[in-house]
This record gives sequence, C-alpha cells and structure tokens, in this order.
Amino acid sequence: MKIFKCFMFVLFMIVGMARAENLIVYFSDSGNTERVADTIQALVGGDMARIESKIPYPKSDTDKTYVAKREQESGARPEYEDLGVNVANYDVIFLGYPIWWGTMPMVVYTFLENNDFKGKVIAPFATYGTSGLGSSVSDIKRVTYGAVVTEAFRIRGVETKKDHAEAVKTWLNKIFQ
Ligand SMILES: Cc1cc2nc3c(=O)[nH]c(=O)nc-3n(C[C@H](O)[C@H](O)[C@H](O)COP(=O)(O)O)c2cc1C
Repeated sequence: MKIFKCFMFVLFMIVGMARAENLIVYFSDSGNTERVADTIQALVGGDMARIESKIPYPKSDTDKTYVAKREQESGARPEYEDLGVNVANYDVIFLGYPIWWGTMPMVVYTFLENNDFKGKVIAPFATYGTSGLGSSVSDIKRVTYGAVVTEAFRIRGVETKKDHAEAVKTWLNKIFQ
C-alpha cells in the first residue's frame, strides 16, 4: 500500500510538471475578442476569465468612445469585478483585448498592474477595427516585469465572425514551436 501511494504521488508530480496551466483572460465589450478567446480555449484548453469593469462602459458608441478616451488621457485604472481565478496558479496567460485608442482599454492595465507575472508567459491576442495592435504589446511588456511576452495574435473584429481557427493555430504553432 505504501509503495502504491508513493508511486501515485510521483505520478501526480510528473503529470503536474508536464502540463502547463493555461489561463485565457480577456476584456471584450462587443463580443469580438470573446470569440477569439473561445477559439483559443477550444484549441489549447485551460480556464477562462472575463475582465468586467465595475462601472460598465456606456452602451452608446459615442459615449463609450468619450469615456475610453477620457480614461486614457487621465491614466485611469478602472476597477474590475472579481475574476474568480488566481493568476499565480497559471504558467501561460493568454491575454485578450480590443484595441481602444491605439492600445488596451485602461481596465486591462489595472488587471496587469494588480498581478505578478514574473516567470510567466503572456500570449496577447487583440481585435481591432483598422489600426492593428497599436502600442499594446510594448505597453504590456512595460507593465509586466519579468514576464515573457510572445508575439501577439491580431485579427480585425469583423473577421472574428468567420472561422478563424486556422489563423489561431498558425499563431500558436509559431509561438510554442
Ligand atoms: C472606445 C473604442 C476605441 C476604439 N479604438 C480603436 C483603435 O484605436 N483602433 C482600431 O483599429 N479600432 C478601435 N476600436 C474598434 C475595436 O477595437 C474593435 O471593434 C474590436 O474588435 C472590439 O472588440 P470587442 O467586440 O471584443 O469589444 C475602438 C472601439 C471602441 C469602442
């Protein structure tokens, strides 16, 4: 019995070490980034958490655009609802966001600054209208001391409504080859 317990313990240790734990954490206002998050989860597995601002963004695009710009200009760090997960438990963090005014929404900065990413891999993925990633990847690197930040996956918001699994697979193969 003792030998069996010992064997099981070693087995659990080996399996635990071999399996990198994935967290897919994202902010999505109108659902585009969420679709990519779902695709990533379907391909790599792992836990999912959505960043929700405690003060919801306005529904109207004009008001939302105004609030987002004001947050950026004032360097705001909006609070977010409890994620229900502990970043410390994961090795690889897939971080998703829409591009807002050339970078991440400020609530994503709050998330990054509230957590310790030392020794972790951050794989960013972003959706956008026309501009591409903007400064988001260098902004992530600036605020996540000690993390390895991979090349980002980017896709236009409208393209997320079509099948984008192959594009995601190509990106995953590139960053985890
Ligand atoms: C406040 C705001 C600012 C935006 N700024 C940009 C931008 O700078 N560049 C860009 O290409 N798209 C911009 N967009 C478009 C979004 O990035 C795009 O629609 C994205 O796919 C939305 O993702 P979501 O559905 O996950 O919220 C902006 C949208 C909003 C609401």
